[in-house]
Amino acid sequence: MSKMVKLWAALVLVAIALPGGTLCKQLRCTMELDRSCSLIGAVVNPDEIMSTTVSSSNPATLTTVQLSRSTITAIPPGMFQSFPKLETLNATGSNIKQVLSNNFADAKTLQQLYLSGNKISDLPEEAFFGARQLRTLDLSKNGLTLIEQTAFKRLRELRTLLLGENRLTELQATVFGDLSELEVLELQRNELGVIGDRQFEDCPSLTKLNVSYNALKSFNMAQFERRWAFDVIDVSHNHLTSVTIPSNLRQLVAAGNGIRRVERGTSNGSELILLKMPHNKLSSMNDLPVFEKLISLDLSFNQIREFDFASVSRFGKLVLLKLDGNQLETVSNGLTSPITHLKYVHLADNRLTHLDLNTLGTIPRMLKLDVRRNRLERMSVKDLSTSFPVLVRMMLEGNRFRCEDNRALLKELKTSITAYAMTAGDCRKEEKLIDGICCS
Ligand SMILES: *[C@@H]1O[C@H](CO)[C@@H](O)[C@H](O)[C@H]1NC(C)=O
Ligand SMILES: *[C@@H]1O[C@H](CO)[C@@H](O)[C@H](O)[C@H]1NC(C)=O
Ligand SMILES: *[C@@H]1O[C@H](CO)[C@@H](O)[C@H](O)[C@H]1NC(C)=O
Repeated sequence: MSKMVKLWAALVLVAIALPGGTLCKQLRCTMELDRSCSLIGAVVNPDEIMSTTVSSSNPATLTTVQLSRSTITAIPPGMFQSFPKLETLNATGSNIKQVLSNNFADAKTLQQLYLSGNKISDLPEEAFFGARQLRTLDLSKNGLTLIEQTAFKRLRELRTLLLGENRLTELQATVFGDLSELEVLELQRNELGVIGDRQFEDCPSLTKLNVSYNALKSFNMAQFERRWAFDVIDVSHNHLTSVTIPSNLRQLVAAGNGIRRVERGTSNGSELILLKMPHNKLSSMNDLPVFEKLISLDLSFNQIREFDFASVSRFGKLVLLKLDGNQLETVSNGLTSPITHLKYVHLADNRLTHLDLNTLGTIPRMLKLDVRRNRLERMSVKDLSTSFPVLVRMMLEGNRFRCEDNRALLKELKTSITAYAMTAGDCRKEEKLIDGICCS
């Protein structure tokens, strides 16, 4: 409050000092067909903010104001007095430099506030106090370095808070303390080095969190452990070396860290259906704990040297397996009974020299097999159509097939439903295209 008083005092002084008229700025907005009102090319200088009013043809019922090509140092508080029913204010890219304390005291009906792409560097105490119906607050792509502890105070209806692409290095312990309805929080592309173990304890409704592209060395996800499901957490592109996956989490995206260890939360069961961990440092699929509901597993570009399809039996629902870009020279299959859930197998960019499809007979429902860019000279298979009746696509480009060693394979392919054909453009100089396969 005191800041506001000081600001007023300063403005009163300015008012006395300046010739009359300068401070009473009136902007007029233009009605659009969709019944929103557009403020185009508005300019509001710092000394005009408090006294600026906005008019329109229907101020009493207007719900949406859209700014474009404007330069307004801050949102004029008078806007909310002029438009008592305002629900949506889009001030994206309007050169806004500050949010004043109590700026939104009169924004009692405001539900959506878009402030993305401005130049706001800090949020003062109680920055949005008064906007108690606010549901969406977009502050992405500003230069935020500081958010005061009480900046989001009383935003008890807030569902979506977008803080991505700012320069936050830390978060105050209870900055999200009043956000009991918050569902979506974006914090990606900041410079966060730590996130507290209890940072989100007052946000029981949170189901989507993005903290990718920060500088986290650890992140305690046990704080999300609760009885109902948490939809997705993205921790990609941080410096994590291990993750412990809460039992209620459905999807974890953790690309581009240095993760060597994956653990499960302590509660019984796991809701995890998707685990996406390309570009990490896992050395074996057996390093993963059992996730009984897992459908999609991406361990591409890790450091896996050995793989046996028997590992898949630990994930009784797995449909998609991506192991591209590892260091596999062979794959084995110790499965003794068939698994019918596995349908998509990606083994591209490994070092396979030979693949015997007959050994994959216990994966009869495979739909797609990708072995591009390995070192395959030969693939053997007996009775492709019977062993893999639904295999519709085999991707074979970028290998080193020997023409004379693959005649049997070609014969099988021709009588199956499997699409595999390469084009002359896929072949290296020394190779020729024979029946759709580049070989030499
Ligand atoms: C807000 O305005 C920007 C730029 O004028 C526009 O690109 C964006 O779609 C608008 N957002 C909404 C939710 O209307
Ligand atoms: C998180 O943010 C990054 C960077 O903006 C984006 O690429 C990614 O798709 C987001 N993750 C999710 C799960 O939406
Ligand atoms: C986990 O399951 C075991 C055996 O079913 C049970 O005894 C235990 O109480 C459960 N623990 C929790 C935290 O639910």
